[in-house]
Amino acid sequence: MKKATAQASSDVALIKYWGKKDETLRLPENSSVSIILEGLNTTTTVEFGPSLTHDVIKIQGESDEQEIRRVVKHLDRIRMLAKTHCFAKVESENIFPKCTGLSSSGSGFAALTIAATNALGLHLSQCELSILARQGSGTACRCICEGFVEWKVGDSDQSHAETIFPSHYWDIRDVVATVDIGNKKVSSTEGHKTASTSPFFTTRLGSIPKKIEMLKKYIKNRDFIKFGELVEAEALEFHSILLTSTPSLIAWYPGTIDVINLVKEMRNQGIKAYFTINTGFNVHVLTLPRYESSVVEILFRSSFVRDIIRAKVGKGPHITSSHLF
Ligand code: DP6
Repeated sequence: MKKATAQASSDVALIKYWGKKDETLRLPENSSVSIILEGLNTTTTVEFGPSLTHDVIKIQGESDEQEIRRVVKHLDRIRMLAKTHCFAKVESENIFPKCTGLSSSGSGFAALTIAATNALGLHLSQCELSILARQGSGTACRCICEGFVEWKVGDSDQSHAETIFPSHYWDIRDVVATVDIGNKKVSSTEGHKTASTSPFFTTRLGSIPKKIEMLKKYIKNRDFIKFGELVEAEALEFHSILLTSTPSLIAWYPGTIDVINLVKEMRNQGIKAYFTINTGFNVHVLTLPRYESSVVEILFRSSFVRDIIRAKVGKGPHITSSHLF
């Protein structure tokens, strides 16, 4: 058994995965589309050892009990596949804040899946890795892929994500404005459970297939304005579900709204930029390379913006020899 390290990037959902048909298997209520984000990366090293008496897990140097339970459960799935009972040492580091709406569980479980299967000598296809990663975190099934990714809704446990356009197809930039780094109040895993309590949820589900069809057309045509308008409208619709669920989930902070208003102002000045937000408070601002530095400069004018992370469409995960221990 060897030590293996994987690096995976987080993603930003353009059409959000929200609500689960099956919580244990993490089967989504709807298909989703995302962009893999080179720049929001997680690195994870895994080593299985016959001498270990329990799993030893550190995420960002910490051992949070709830996170550890989830990681152990995922290691158990992988151990079952490899038919081993060996415990593992796991260390994971992000170069971006976790639990703030930047899909750290996506890159985290993708990196864990790839490092752990590699350490145990399992040779899985990309589809098999996506199916496996999905059970750790829904988003992670997309983070196994590269570029522009679709996770198709499916009833079977084989549900997985696939690349629909490679990373080089369209150079889109994501300028992430972090307005806080504290943990978000409600995790996505908890939030998914309340999705169906929104009176608008069924309407949303009915409109998703057409939306995905249109989005794919706009990506294919590299039509940034139509793409951005659709992505922004989807983000607002998604948050209307959060707001009208029971209990309601109000993810935004004052800084989130400030950034939304700044993005609208940018467009008034001719800068093509559109926002999208997950269940957290930090804001993804999607733009084209020629506007990126202006977007950064204007975002920093907000007294709420603490930091900015720049990301590009990513090539997806890989194995590296730079181990964390
Ligand atoms: C709002 O993948 O974090 O970011 O499957 O319970 O781990 P679990 O949920 P998670 O949900 C992500 C929700 C979202 C939308 C999206 O990324 O598609």
